[in-house]
Amino acid sequence: MFVRNCWYVAAWSHLLPAGAVIGRQILDEPIALYRTESGALVAMEDRCPHRLAPLSLGCVQGEHLQCRYHGLTFDTAGNCIDAPGTEKIPPRSTARTFPVAERDGWVWVWAGAPHLANEALIPRGFDLGDPRFTMRHGEIRYEADYQLVNDNLCDLSHLDFLHETTLGGATSGGWSVQPPRVTPLERGVHIERWLRDRPSSPGGNDLTDIWSCYDFSVPGILVMRTTFYPRGSADRCGLAAPPDDLVPLLRRVDQQAVTPTGENSCNYLFAAGFEGTTPSPKAMERMYKIVMDAFAEDRTMIEAQQRIWDLTPASRKKAFLPSDKAPHLFRKVVARLLDQELNAS
Ligand code: FES
Repeated sequence: MFVRNCWYVAAWSHLLPAGAVIGRQILDEPIALYRTESGALVAMEDRCPHRLAPLSLGCVQGEHLQCRYHGLTFDTAGNCIDAPGTEKIPPRSTARTFPVAERDGWVWVWAGAPHLANEALIPRGFDLGDPRFTMRHGEIRYEADYQLVNDNLCDLSHLDFLHETTLGGATSGGWSVQPPRVTPLERGVHIERWLRDRPSSPGGNDLTDIWSCYDFSVPGILVMRTTFYPRGSADRCGLAAPPDDLVPLLRRVDQQAVTPTGENSCNYLFAAGFEGTTPSPKAMERMYKIVMDAFAEDRTMIEAQQRIWDLTPASRKKAFLPSDKAPHLFRKVVARLLDQELNAS
């Protein structure tokens, strides 16, 4: 079961220059994304109404998309405007289209009722094209329920164990000791915490205090700042959010999206980097390697976890830790939105 009235990240915007078409899958729905020669972005069912060939294998012709199999041609609304061998457009030859938007380097597709698509519901991230940010990006496919990936991102206590030598090691641990403050949001959760006396770089001797702060929003959008301040800042702030005039030493930023492709599979798109500073290529490479190694650890664990979940009755009660608060609250948000959709239909 998926929340349908929601924007899902389908792809990176830069994968779609004018005239390009790519295929994606969201909530078991094959979707062809294409950009017309004039720059308009279109999300269309990736299924030709003739013999169901993927339209993502077709070609963009001006403002239109032509199926590469037998040449049906569609306008941006999915209407067939040309059918080879006949003057008459055949019935049932319309392809469904989806509301689509571009924001912060991503292509977003609305999977629900088109009249409910509201771009104000798109969670704001860091604009990858903004020169204040220096980021590297990537994409990973998971063979697992997207909610297991969301649980993982809502509960960073696992950095101390699963990522002991990668992300956890880079910040010298402590993520499971200092519980975060978790605040429910209308469509997600806000998670923040201080970590005291942490190295400013992996293995470094200079100690800093780290302010970790992020929103996690439906369907699985993480927008996180990890900001390094002079040692002692956490106590001077009374463990509250640092004031705007407190000058940081370094700002790390992360932007991630979990998009279910099916019941037990999802795509994970991520960008990691820095704000307000241009790191050396070596520092950037080191940061990216730590991130990629950590994400490989996540995938191994979560896919293995999925296999055990598949062997376990849904009725089985699970132990609950204090660090489960944010994943629990986030699942409640998803369940509430699902209930709203079911009751409205
Ligand atoms: Fe597309 Fe035949 S399958 S035109």
